[in-house]
Amino acid sequence: MTDNQYKKEINHIIFLIGFMGSGKTTLGKKLAKTLKYDFIDSDMWIENRNSSTIKQIFENKGEDYFRFLEQEFIENFNPSKPTVVATGGGLPCFNENIERLKNKGIVIYLKASAKILLSRLKSDKSRPLISIIDENEKLTFIEKKLSERSVYYNQAHFSINSGNDVEKQLIELKCLLS
Ligand code: S3P
Repeated sequence: MTDNQYKKEINHIIFLIGFMGSGKTTLGKKLAKTLKYDFIDSDMWIENRNSSTIKQIFENKGEDYFRFLEQEFIENFNPSKPTVVATGGGLPCFNENIERLKNKGIVIYLKASAKILLSRLKSDKSRPLISIIDENEKLTFIEKKLSERSVYYNQAHFSINSGNDVEKQLIELKCLLS
């Protein structure tokens, strides 16, 4: 099978993966609009289905339970229409989910340096993993987690530089997917 045939068969689902703050939701919404695809965010899907915020799920049921919900999301996700999915930053890194994503669609890694991620996450209060970290330790935390998670992120079919501005990323993505 040529690369192009392969892309055509699975490209009705496009998964954007990457660290917190890599811009998956922002880019995902724009990409979906450009391609006339539906858009879904795995965190929002989980929040709606459980009538709780991600923060509440972490606080009340713990991270392992949240990872179970992410796995459940990806196992049950079979959209009838072409869809762009922004996945939670940890989703591809647990329970062999990276394989599940790759079997269901095209997986694109939005890659950014720890410093850029820090600048976007500095004052974030909604993400349970990062909001509890002391200001002075955030960069070290991001560097460590990013390095652990890169093993999974780098298994994506493609990666793009999410340090670039969004319009540039869109052009890059359209080229990759055409
Ligand atoms: C997480 C990332 C978050 C959310 C949860 C855990 C992670 O999603 O799923 O707070 O483990 O990196 P975003 O990447 O959309 O912030």
